[in-house]
Amino acid sequence: MKLVVIGATGRTGGEIVAEATERAHDVVGVARSAGEVGDVPVHPAGELPALLADADVDAIVDFTVPEASREHAARAAEAGVPYVVGTTGFGDDGLAALDAAAESTAVLKAANFAHGVQALLRVVEAGVEALPEYDVELTETHHAGKRDAPSGTANTVLDAIEAARGETLDRTHGREGGHRRGESKVGVHVRRAGTVRGEHEVVLAGNDEVLTLAHRAESRRVFAAGAVDAAEWLAGRDPGFYGFDDVL
Ligand SMILES: NC(=O)c1ccc[n+]([C@@H]2O[C@H](COP(=O)([O-])OP(=O)(O)OC[C@H]3O[C@@H](n4cnc5c(N)ncnc54)[C@H](OP(=O)(O)O)[C@@H]3O)[C@@H](O)[C@H]2O)c1
Repeated sequence: MKLVVIGATGRTGGEIVAEATERAHDVVGVARSAGEVGDVPVHPAGELPALLADADVDAIVDFTVPEASREHAARAAEAGVPYVVGTTGFGDDGLAALDAAAESTAVLKAANFAHGVQALLRVVEAGVEALPEYDVELTETHHAGKRDAPSGTANTVLDAIEAARGETLDRTHGREGGHRRGESKVGVHVRRAGTVRGEHEVVLAGNDEVLTLAHRAESRRVFAAGAVDAAEWLAGRDPGFYGFDDVL
């Protein structure tokens, strides 16, 4: 399979290049400026339309920044090339751009490509449904270089909690001062430190007990492997919007 990896020089993109190369895919890198990752050539983003004009490209994987991913999605749509995006932190405009691209090509977006996080989402929903009266709090930890907070995964977990509760909860970000917790709230706590790959923990507490549900990524390779799984699955699919749960 011929794969264009955008963000190839990045922390996650570099792992995606390594994973795809190990699986014997033909990989072309794209970043802001030209270079190389291992033996893989990296082209400047301005060359993306020309690279996609090559009819052999089977899929794109993009792990960059939301402003750039909007453009990359549009280029993928123009060329009709399936597009996997792991970038997080999209605003409404960015999400609308992905929706628009999905009218012309297959688009797969996931805030987290770890198989364990997909399982965590199901387990959290089951826990919240089973314990409707319990307080829910979420804590996430990532490396000091992460731009968006809370993480895209944390937001996805919060959406799952709300779906299970059947209501929109007041998301309380951090806490200080002399206020009681109150009901219909979910606490959201963000830590940024060192090189932590990604940790998410949900606690459900009440009735003199605490249920803790947690996931920890031990290396970025887990995201890379999931993203390449997604690209292999998406190649040749019809236009539309897909999620990682479709792949699994
Ligand atoms: N979905 C998941 O499972 C998952 C997992 C991990 C991370 N992420 C997300 O993936 C994104 C990247 O994270 P990271 O830690 O890998 O970031 P990073 O190390 O900062 O790498 C960013 C990459 O994007 C490239 N880039 C930035 N602006 C660009 C532009 N305008 N055009 C083309 N390329 C551009 C950079 O190229 P230069 O080096 O040339 O600047 C670099 O290759 C973040 O949104 C992060 O939250 C998602």
